[in-house]
Formats: sequence, structure tokens, C-alpha cells
Amino acid sequence: MTDQELIQLAVQVREQAYVPYSKFKVGAALLSVDGRVFTGANVENASYGLTICAERAALFKAVSEGAQRYTTIAVVTDLADPASPCGACRQVLAEFAPELKVIMANTAGKVVSTTIAELLPLAFTPEKLEESH
Ligand code: THU
Repeated sequence: MTDQELIQLAVQVREQAYVPYSKFKVGAALLSVDGRVFTGANVENASYGLTICAERAALFKAVSEGAQRYTTIAVVTDLADPASPCGACRQVLAEFAPELKVIMANTAGKVVSTTIAELLPLAFTPEKLEESH
């Protein structure tokens, strides 16, 4: 699975976004170490705060299907400057994959790459809880 293939899967799933309120479609494709890909789109709600982002939709699908280790996530929007995952999604991704590669792309083909470690320095991780006594 190449980065471009992962981006294409995020482009495709982005069309499934349920966004009657923001009209802002996001697609995500999460590559598991076992080679499986889990896709997600954002799903909004009339009670706005219940909205789930594309990245967490993909992650929750992956965990539900038994995949907890990942190498890469691709996130696609139609913004000129590809959007980065929101703070909540960074935290949820860091729980499972603090070194995750994050590919941010737009529908015009612009691609920017980073990592969760860069996006969320000093993350609060499960190890911190183990240190507690
Ligand atoms: N959204 C995502 O799906 N991912 C992000 O990282 C940022 C925001 C969604 C949530 C909401 O449906 C819309 O974008 C506007 O905030």
C-alpha cells in the first residue's frame, strides 16, 4: 500500500461524509501494520457536539476489527492547505500510535506529511498512567 493509494482511499471515503451542518467533508484512511486499511468519514449530528471526525471514525473501526497498531493515516479535505487532525483526534491516535505517520492531502493533489509525535508533543499516553502510584 503506497501513500498515494492510501490517499485515494481517503478521497473515496470522503464522499460518504455526513455533513449537513458544516458541509465540510473529511476522509481518512488508516493503514494497519498487518496491511489492512480502515477508512472513515466525518459524521455530524443535529446535536452538533456529538459529531465524530473522520480520523476517529477510522480508528474506532480499526480497533473494533482487532487492529491496534498502525503505520500511517491519510486525511483528505478540499482545503488549499491540507487540514491537520484536530486536537481530539491527535490524542486518540497517540493512544495507539504515537509515532504514526500523518499524511495530509487535498483533493487537488497537494500532500504534506508529518507525525503524531510532531503534532502532539508531550502527549499524555497510557504509560503515564502506569507510572502513577
Ligand atoms: N473534522 C474532521 O473530520 N476531522 C478533523 O480533523 C477536523 C474536523 C470534521 C468535524 C466536522 O464534521 C467538520 O469537520 C467541521 O468541523
